[in-house]
Amino acid sequence: MEIKKVGVVGCGLMGSGIAQVAAQAGLPTVVLEVSDELLQKGMGMIQKSLARLAEKGTITTEQQAAAFARLQPTFALADFADCDLVIEAIIENLERKRALFKLLDEIVKPEAIFASNTSSLSITDMMTATGRQPQFLGLHFFNPVPLMKLVEVVKTVVTDPAVVEAGLDYARRVGKTPILTSDGGGFIVNRLLVPYLLDSIRALEEGVGSIVDIDNGMKLGCGHPMGPLTLNDFVGIDTTFYIAEIMFDEFREKRFAPPPLMKRMVAAGMLGRKSGKGFYDYSDPKNPKPNRELER
Ligand code: 3HC
Repeated sequence: MEIKKVGVVGCGLMGSGIAQVAAQAGLPTVVLEVSDELLQKGMGMIQKSLARLAEKGTITTEQQAAAFARLQPTFALADFADCDLVIEAIIENLERKRALFKLLDEIVKPEAIFASNTSSLSITDMMTATGRQPQFLGLHFFNPVPLMKLVEVVKTVVTDPAVVEAGLDYARRVGKTPILTSDGGGFIVNRLLVPYLLDSIRALEEGVGSIVDIDNGMKLGCGHPMGPLTLNDFVGIDTTFYIAEIMFDEFREKRFAPPPLMKRMVAAGMLGRKSGKGFYDYSDPKNPKPNRELER
């Protein structure tokens, strides 16, 4: 099951990173978006990230150019026909993902492996839209993909062991460390991370500490690279809210229930870094200011 050509569906924050690391690993990579605007935005993110890596000396300017040249941007699913691995990184909507995989199943060569980068939806529920259930698995990358070292390889109860091995090998090939997990809501990382992120918001709601003090608590007391409220803003308040809703639905446990403040922030369009305001105000992106209105 040698992977010689990769397809990535979706060139947003995650899809662009997933396509980038595949191209950096020397693999011809087809990457699809639904509009010219989104495709240009995604390719722009890749260009910027490769340039940052070259500036830092992590890659050479030759490697930067070669990686970018290995990317084939497209609007046509037909371009995935001869891919050995197709990774889906579209919106977190089960019906949309199922519809996509059903189409891909008709187009892509029968021996190819399908993977989803979902962070919380069931891989099994996507797999059943296809006729290649043993060749289906989860490959969950972390944001920012070019820097974060982990990939969760998610096996279902019917994934072929050889396909699991191919998933683990693929993660290593793109420079990541894989961990193996089963298809349970949130896998390993979000099972632990999401309650922590939600608890940091509950702590703020209950007046346990200020935004900066909650963040500094975990940064300086536990050595985390970002405090939990900064991380909420970084991931996107709406994204974590949505993941929490799915996990709450699966487990019916309070620890996965999104707190009311989070719900209000999403309703108000306060989504974190991407909307310019969340637990911090990013008017000056290099110098975010805590959003004092959220403090007690
Ligand atoms: N591509 C290339 N280089 C990048 C980059 C990118 N996308 N993003 C940042 N960099 C570079 C910067 O240029 C900078 O380079 P320098 O050291 O030469 O100046 C370097 O990385 C460090 O960046 P910053 O100075 O901006 O900031 P930090 O030192 O804080 O590092 C970070 C950034 C690596 C993101 C670090 O803060 C971190 O590890 N944060 C935690 C991230 C995390 O937890 N991610 C997981 C989220 S959960 C998830 O993804 C799962 C999903 O299902 C929700």
